[in-house]
Amino acid sequence: MNKDIEKILVTEQELNIIAKKLAKQITEDYAGKKLLIVGVLKGSIYFFTDLSRYIELPCNIDFIQASSYGAGTTTSGTIKIIKDISDDLSGFDVLLVEDILDTGRTLKHIKDMIAKRNPNSIAVVTLLDKPARREVDIYADYIGVDVPNAFVVGYGLDYNQYYRNLPYIGILKEEVYKNN
Ligand code: PRP
Repeated sequence: MNKDIEKILVTEQELNIIAKKLAKQITEDYAGKKLLIVGVLKGSIYFFTDLSRYIELPCNIDFIQASSYGAGTTTSGTIKIIKDISDDLSGFDVLLVEDILDTGRTLKHIKDMIAKRNPNSIAVVTLLDKPARREVDIYADYIGVDVPNAFVVGYGLDYNQYYRNLPYIGILKEEVYKNN
């Protein structure tokens, strides 16, 4: 285990089971639809690639990048779109893929923006949900696992852009971030 990790919260094996289970549900729900899977960069990359490969349907994939956290451990509340998707989403059933739903501000911003582009539907799948931290009225349609209010990294989630490539979700030791 990485020396900066206090405890593993979701193992590699559990992450695989979660991706397969959610993909099965999505495969059933989106049969016959014009599915567009949109990964929210950068945090969702590993979950996105695992999940999408288990979805047994024809689909388009794309990516959107938003940023809110900066270098700290809490959100600044300001959402910036760094990379966008198509302006016209007519006919598409859009599925947004997130790594974590925290305050909900990022997802709310993206969902509202996409809703104006005339998609057939918009839904959200998140690997991790931290309901205790929610600040805006938003929910995910598909949730991998609820996590406690701890600083989690790995499998796409970062602290100061590091730890994304850990193959598990772990709780970061407080000493790593407490002086920031
Ligand atoms: C993180 C995470 C979510 C968002 C969740 O992204 O990937 O998109 O914050 O937080 P919220 O619910 O409080 O808005 P971040 O902006 O850190 O960018 P990243 O994905 O590139 O790490």
